[in-house]
Amino acid sequence: MSIAGRDAQRQTAVGQLTQSEQAPAGVDPATPSPARMYDYMLSGKHNFQSDRDAVERFRAQLPDLGDAAWANRAFHQRAARWLAAERGIRQFIDLGSGLPIQGNTHEIVQAVAPAARVVYVDHDPMLLAYADELLTADGSTAVIQADLRDPGSLLSAPGLRALIDFDEPAGLNDQAGRVVTHVGSWWAEDPAAADSDGSRALYCGVARRP
Ligand SMILES: C[S@@+](CC[C@H](N)C(=O)[O-])C[C@H]1O[C@@H](n2cnc3c(N)ncnc32)[C@H](O)[C@@H]1O
Repeated sequence: MSIAGRDAQRQTAVGQLTQSEQAPAGVDPATPSPARMYDYMLSGKHNFQSDRDAVERFRAQLPDLGDAAWANRAFHQRAARWLAAERGIRQFIDLGSGLPIQGNTHEIVQAVAPAARVVYVDHDPMLLAYADELLTADGSTAVIQADLRDPGSLLSAPGLRALIDFDEPAGLNDQAGRVVTHVGSWWAEDPAAADSDGSRALYCGVARRP
């Protein structure tokens, strides 16, 4: 299929997301998901009515919710760009990546380092349903559906090993979802060790002011 045809098909699919019966296989549109809720907060189109309703319930209690999401996304992009431009990182593992949206990690880092590789990881099945929005023609990106509570499944995923050289420094993103906080600290038990070979771990979370 031509790129124009694929884009036209995608536009149709995106437009149908308001109709729950058009949910991709494996996706329950009636149950809000964090990835889709975050997508809605960022004005994305990979979300359903249940996600929008859930966000609006949160927003009624936390009026700054949208600003926080945008601030996080901006940090994510600034930090990833800095790692590529200033620290020479050429491979990134985006944990809890969320769904495709403008300014995806590979678009940010490849703007300053065209050879950079990015592996997107999320447990939300919507990630795979729209993976083609993150995959590049030159194979510099991969998309893996994995639950970080089962790190072995991620570490053994062929897509990860194909793009990430564990003998080279890597950038490890964990942002907004506080994935590490929620699922345990399997990779962060010794944060200093993550830096020892030039690798960097980016972390961003939300905190309530006392
Ligand atoms: C708020 S979004 C963050 C999106 C993106 N990292 C950013 O900063 O813009 C948090 C993501 O973490 C994912 N997530 C939460 N728990 C997870 C788990 N156990 N395994 C994999 N992904 C998880 C959610 O599906 C969601 O997409």
